[in-house]
Amino acid sequence: MLHGQGEKNLIASIQTKFAYVIEHLEQEIGEWLLIEYRHASQIVGKDRLMFTNVEKPKDVAELSKLGTAESKSFVEIFRAREIVILDPKAKTPLRHADLEAKRGIVIGGILGDESAKGRTRALVTTRFPEAVARNLGFGQFTIDGAVYMAKLVCEGFRLDEIPVKKGLNVRMSKHHSVYLPYVYPLKNGKPVVHKALIEYLHIELNSKNRR
Ligand SMILES: C[S@@+](CC[C@H](N)C(=O)[O-])C[C@H]1O[C@@H](n2cnc3c(N)ncnc32)[C@H](O)[C@@H]1O
Repeated sequence: MLHGQGEKNLIASIQTKFAYVIEHLEQEIGEWLLIEYRHASQIVGKDRLMFTNVEKPKDVAELSKLGTAESKSFVEIFRAREIVILDPKAKTPLRHADLEAKRGIVIGGILGDESAKGRTRALVTTRFPEAVARNLGFGQFTIDGAVYMAKLVCEGFRLDEIPVKKGLNVRMSKHHSVYLPYVYPLKNGKPVVHKALIEYLHIELNSKNRR
């Protein structure tokens, strides 16, 4: 954690107007994506969360329940110097000082791939090459996990102070579990993942088995 009055002022100034901006880049808002978006809204609060690049009016209506929803891309709303982009392929790890005088941090609204394919770089970072791009450490966090990490860094934590776990085995039955190959922050020793996602995986598996 950071200490001292100067640093407290910095934290306060970051927090007053700071936005967590999810650049929505998936074609459809399926259940899995919606669960991650809902969780992101719970983590930072509806008043701090902004969805950008939301093209379909029905999606704007849906996502307005979780935060501000804009059809414009983040590149049309912010100047490059006002934001930090979270990109797994960025060379430099995110530090609290990176957020000084910034208006927001941009997270890709992109579901995880088995291994990161560089979609954030291709679809987000290269659109704003002058903006500061930062990583959260090795591996691919989920959207809500990345939002959680960003919030903690914004509050003054260093990345190396936040415990994380690579991969998550979700037990489906006595003999079967599903492996999620992402990196999860740990909160009180437990992975930051919404319980609705675990329920969703159970429902999906049961309906697959019935087919
Ligand atoms: C599930 S990840 C999608 C990553 C995507 N498959 C790719 O290849 O870039 C969703 C978002 O979380 C953020 N993110 C996830 N892991 C990250 C990391 N290690 N460093 C920085 N940002 C990360 C990025 O903003 C990313 O767009």
